[in-house]
Amino acid sequence: MEEERRSNKRKRGRRSRHKVGSTEKPVDSASCANNPTRNSSNLTEVHLPVQYHAGYQEQISHWPEQPVNIIIKWLKDHSPSLVVADFGCGDARLARSVKNKVFSFDLVSSDPSVTACDMSNTPLDSSSIDVAVFCLSLMGTSFPSYLQEAHRVLKPCGQLLIAEVKSRFDPNTGGADPNTFAKAICELGFTSVSKDFSNKMFILLYFKKKEKQNSNKGIAWPELKPCLYKRR
Ligand SMILES: C[S@@+](CC[C@H](N)C(=O)[O-])C[C@H]1O[C@@H](n2cnc3c(N)ncnc32)[C@H](O)[C@@H]1O
Repeated sequence: MEEERRSNKRKRGRRSRHKVGSTEKPVDSASCANNPTRNSSNLTEVHLPVQYHAGYQEQISHWPEQPVNIIIKWLKDHSPSLVVADFGCGDARLARSVKNKVFSFDLVSSDPSVTACDMSNTPLDSSSIDVAVFCLSLMGTSFPSYLQEAHRVLKPCGQLLIAEVKSRFDPNTGGADPNTFAKAICELGFTSVSKDFSNKMFILLYFKKKEKQNSNKGIAWPELKPCLYKRR
């Protein structure tokens, strides 16, 4: 009995030392995204949603530039009548910063304006959205299903904006080739509009939905490494 009590105490101690949001921390986002409260010993990281958001905010607050601000600027440079879906919106900063109608989705929501759902299955009607945004949210191995959902809800010629952590796209360190990634997105039924690799911390990819649906069978999706958020 006493041994069991000591063992539980040791386990609790180990858990409380786990630091969410430390520098250059791999996020086991597949597990995290699909079940944010799962707490299992086979996960490389355990994430409680609130801690996750706090850790993420803390880390990117050190970046010289926030990708969400670039997307906000992009929207401000376009018509406010464009209807936007923010996939994996976090604290919904995007929706709070623009005049557009923004549908905000995240697995976890402490804000009534955010719809809590898995972004592979949103409640949006097909072909109802002008702009789909993924800002640092293509987490885990299910990312093709998120992009597939964006394709479903976008109107023909609707725009897809992706900002993702640069370290995931460095083939020299085991990351995906960004051009292979972009090619796979095009096979889903998009045209690449532009790519911006100029930022040290993240890449930006812009696509337009093709008018005609591609057959999306057999798309060679590259593997995306877990997110590494680095302090600059
Ligand atoms: C790194 S944060 C980015 C938040 C926000 N887009 C920003 O740039 O500030 C990634 C977000 O994606 C959400 N997310 C990850 N997988 C998801 C899924 N399958 N469905 C919905 N949201 C998901 C996480 O909960 C998290 O809030």
